[in-house]
Amino acid sequence: MIQRPRGTRDFGPAEMARRRAVEQAMREACHRFGFGEVVTPTFEQSELFTLRSGEAIVDEMYVFKDKGDREMALRPEITASVIRFFVNEMSNLPKPLKLYYVGNCFRYENPQSGRYREFFQLGAELIGNENPETDAEVISLAVESLRATGLQDFNVRIGHIGILKSLVLEGIDDQALAGNVLRMIDKGDFDALAQTLETNGVTGNLMESITGIAGTKGSIDVLQSVDETKANEHLRELFEILKLQGIDDCQLDLGIVRGLDYYSGMVFEIDAPRLGAEKQVLGGGSYTLSELFGGEPVFSTGFAIGLDRVMLALEAEKELPEYSPIDAYVVPTEDAMRKYAFAIVAKIRAKGLRADVDLMRRSMSKNLKYASSMAARYAVIVGKDEMAKRSVTLRDMESGEQRQVPADFAADELEKALNAPRKHPLSSVPQRGIP
Ligand code: HAM
Repeated sequence: MIQRPRGTRDFGPAEMARRRAVEQAMREACHRFGFGEVVTPTFEQSELFTLRSGEAIVDEMYVFKDKGDREMALRPEITASVIRFFVNEMSNLPKPLKLYYVGNCFRYENPQSGRYREFFQLGAELIGNENPETDAEVISLAVESLRATGLQDFNVRIGHIGILKSLVLEGIDDQALAGNVLRMIDKGDFDALAQTLETNGVTGNLMESITGIAGTKGSIDVLQSVDETKANEHLRELFEILKLQGIDDCQLDLGIVRGLDYYSGMVFEIDAPRLGAEKQVLGGGSYTLSELFGGEPVFSTGFAIGLDRVMLALEAEKELPEYSPIDAYVVPTEDAMRKYAFAIVAKIRAKGLRADVDLMRRSMSKNLKYASSMAARYAVIVGKDEMAKRSVTLRDMESGEQRQVPADFAADELEKALNAPRKHPLSSVPQRGIP
């Protein structure tokens, strides 16, 4: 038997229905904020990602040569592609540009729960400037997108990579080494940090400042304990705008470094604490990449949500409703009624309802069992006596109640019944459609 590659998954209909519903809720949030969808290729020239995404990502990239001997990479993320697209074709459009995307990404990581080699992101990029308003708009969309999925338990942490970066670069000229130091802070490896700083002559006040900033967390008021910089003002304004939009429970965390190297300003992360080790459901921040890809320098702010982790977080928060692909299942009572069953199912489908009909030539009782195993809300029984009167029987599969309705109105009756309030509101069977 051929197995699927490690770190990848197959998704069945029930799971896909839930994923699509969650994705749709987030897409609608993007639309409410005026973001338009873009799609970019699944693979790009590997250079697109090696230029600035940083060592951590490059080490995990799926790289291959195509038949023309060009080095390609499966995208480890989508931001670089969107900015390449912007530089290639959209740089003359009026700014700000608000773009969002949904797609699969590939990273050769050690697979575990919430960490995959192929995973899915919904992300957004606001291309235009580096004002606090832009950052606020993006964080606001990030929070709205998660709220729209029904997720309740999540924490927003906001920092500013500019503060840490400039302090580290004050003591360390070598960009690569400075990058390593920042990664140690990202991992919370403070022993290695202290040792590296010391070996490179960063001691005393500067060392204290770096470790102090890396550990600065709390409400926006903790900024009072930090030397005044332009970044502080930016963060204060940002928190104010967020508060005015009803987002007032964000934490300041100046130790946020992010796994990608292109950030230059505000950075933020959202965790779902119920997820354990891989609890970060979203990451983002402000950056410039356009000049690196041959365009004018333009500031952008964006984020990406890990769709797979949001699904896990939702599962951890609440029981998911039972999934059913159909509202009604049409059951002929005997062979002579089979072709009529097809006429009935066609009418129900024409009404926009989700309906299926017996294709296995099963007996009536086996068909009812099957309808129940599919969690169909109704069985539509097509019997000889009923057809003689041009009617069918609707059977509520949950309560077992049955009633005869005229065949020509079966679809209307079903629609009414499916839209009526449930007799058992706590039932786990979905009212209609996808949960
Ligand atoms: P990132 O933090 O690398 O940022 O990824 C964003 C989110 O994708 C993470 O917070 C996580 O939820 C999810 N994720 C990352 N790796 C995996 C994995 N191996 N398995 C499952 N989920 C994963 C970016 O990708 C940036 N492009 C975000 C951004 C957009 N910054 C500015 N604009």
